[in-house]
Amino acid sequence: MNPIDKNPKYKETYNLVKDLFESTEHFYYGPFDETYYSLRVYETCKEIIAKLDQEVSTPIILTAAILHDIGKTKINMDKVITPAGKTDHAVKEWKRHAKLSVPLANEILTKMGHSEEFITEVCYLIEHHDHREDEIKDKSIELQILQDADLVADCGFAGFIRPFMYGSKFSRQIIGTIKYLKTEVNRVEQDGLLNLEVSKTIAKRKIEIEKKLIKEISLDINSDLL
Ligand SMILES: [Fe+2]
Repeated sequence: MNPIDKNPKYKETYNLVKDLFESTEHFYYGPFDETYYSLRVYETCKEIIAKLDQEVSTPIILTAAILHDIGKTKINMDKVITPAGKTDHAVKEWKRHAKLSVPLANEILTKMGHSEEFITEVCYLIEHHDHREDEIKDKSIELQILQDADLVADCGFAGFIRPFMYGSKFSRQIIGTIKYLKTEVNRVEQDGLLNLEVSKTIAKRKIEIEKKLIKEISLDINSDLL
């Protein structure tokens, strides 16, 4: 096996990904800050793998985790958001990012010296990271981990802070965001989107933290002024 396939240079890959996101208007800071959320997906994959009692291709999963969202640098954000918030075409344009990530990942991994076989496997995970539920039958364990990590990474502290950043980008007041959080239903908890039991356990703990934080911050605005 190609030595770099066995021991990928994760930090180097992440730095290249950061450079790509830095060149964009929306993905380097704020609610869509991919330098944070991609890192969270990478770390969540590690958390799931550690708790999973099964042999998996860890280098493939972790490399895909770092690169999975780079296609966002190629979507047209004018079709996704306006200064007032999301557009009606947001979902359609947003969904293009998985496929758009593939050629970018291919280029980066080829430059880094990975084998064709490794790149094909990583790109498969990247292309399908958003295809949940019954869209793919007999998903590989590697794809199940990446898909779950992508959702779980947005629970807990990460999920708690995102609405505040979203609020500041679209001129919503902090009090408005706290009220929104109180009524928000966590889709990971509701929809049964996760593939693995291990992921469900991790998500449950993170959602509990998130709920506790929401409860605490809600007390802060328990005021006769409102
Ligand atoms: Fe994605």
